[in-house]
Amino acid sequence: MKNIVITGGAGFIGSHVVRLFVNKYPEYNIINLDKLTYAGNLANLKDIEDKPNYKFVKMDICDFDAFYQLMQDEKIDGIIHLAAESHVDRSIKDPFTFARTNVMGTLSLLQAAKLYWESLPEKYEGKRFYHISTDEVYGALSMTHPEGIEPPFTTTASSSEHHLAYGEDFFYETTKYNPHSPYSASKASSDHFVRAYHDTYGMPTIVTNCSNNYGPFQFPEKLIPLFINNIRNRKPLPVYGKGENVRDWLYVVDHARAIDVIFHKGTIAETYNIGGFNEWKNIDIIKTVINTVDRLLGRPEGADMDLITYVTDRLGHDARYAIDSTKLQRELGWEPSLQFEEGIEKTVKWYLENEEWLNNITSGDYEKYYESMYKNR
Ligand code: NAD
Ligand code: DAU
Repeated sequence: MKNIVITGGAGFIGSHVVRLFVNKYPEYNIINLDKLTYAGNLANLKDIEDKPNYKFVKMDICDFDAFYQLMQDEKIDGIIHLAAESHVDRSIKDPFTFARTNVMGTLSLLQAAKLYWESLPEKYEGKRFYHISTDEVYGALSMTHPEGIEPPFTTTASSSEHHLAYGEDFFYETTKYNPHSPYSASKASSDHFVRAYHDTYGMPTIVTNCSNNYGPFQFPEKLIPLFINNIRNRKPLPVYGKGENVRDWLYVVDHARAIDVIFHKGTIAETYNIGGFNEWKNIDIIKTVINTVDRLLGRPEGADMDLITYVTDRLGHDARYAIDSTKLQRELGWEPSLQFEEGIEKTVKWYLENEEWLNNITSGDYEKYYESMYKNR
């Protein structure tokens, strides 16, 4: 029997991790700990909420006393930590909330886990603190080729096959941290604290850095679900700058599968990059999403291209992210299960078939917040 806390389990990625663990490991007790901020939504977990090995606890990760009590009451062996403020645009408006949750919240979990685990006769034996981080902590990559070849070009950086790239370099586990946004600065700080708890106290920690996720249950303020929702409602699509920034996209279920493999087989104190060697310019993703939504709604493909609206760029907008996940693929045998074309088709279909989920979020207070945020850009 293992007692595992998954923080942020009511959010986008967390809900996929909770679902995978609850279904795959009936012998584990899975506790979903979430404050239910604007981004937390228990509707994401309707299909597993009645399972006997699942429990939801509403808690703020910054509440040290409550979490220390939970560690003792539930005899927690493992923590998979996803709870965070996760949206870059919000961090530009409100950095303090990001420092509080992402830095102080993570530190609070670490310290409570340390006190509890060190009080046990077996101490850290069989315990694990797994921290989910992002590729954004590495900063931004350039979009150049040493021989002056115009991107995109193919590269062999992938362990398996050639893939399209927009620059010659990648984020490796050894890449120096160089965060630019308040969000990535707060995540970088939390990563440092996690590693410090291993190096100082011997806590069995693991950190992973993943690229952009897409798929069902993502809050519709992030690029792909926001644009799907706007296209179906024929609302403008705010493309930041020239739409030339490059992101590296991974289907969320593949991230959850990687978390499962790493939680069980990863080496303590190691870092693993997670990504699918799948770089896209924003504008190309946007055109693909428009064509897919149009086709699935029975509109002529491309009919909604005129919704594209170029707006003022995001402050400090990172040019390119590209993850090298060779270490994870080679050492732990993980690889993505889906090609992007299949993943985006599934994703668009899911949002169009789950209009109620979208409408519940996009009506009411969130809509007002969203509008004021963009008015003040
Ligand atoms: P999300 O915003 O969808 O969900 C975050 C969850 O954390 C929500 O359920 C929210 O209620 C909860 N939460 C926030 N503050 C809390 C607090 N103080 N106490 C308890 N719960 C709190 O985020 P996501 O996109 O699912 O990201 C999850 C994690 O993965 C984050 O740590 C993020 O940095 C990381 N990550 C995200 C991506 C991505 O593309 N979305 C990529 C790499 C890494
Ligand atoms: O790389 C991993 C990160 O990916 C995660 O750590 C973050 O939690 C997650 O939010 C995501 O960050 P991004 O800033 O890359 O994602 P977002 O969906 O906000 O934006 C993707 C790209 O699209 C980015 O270049 C900005 C651009 N964009 C975004 C929005 C919301 C637009 O052009 N218009 C938009 O309205």
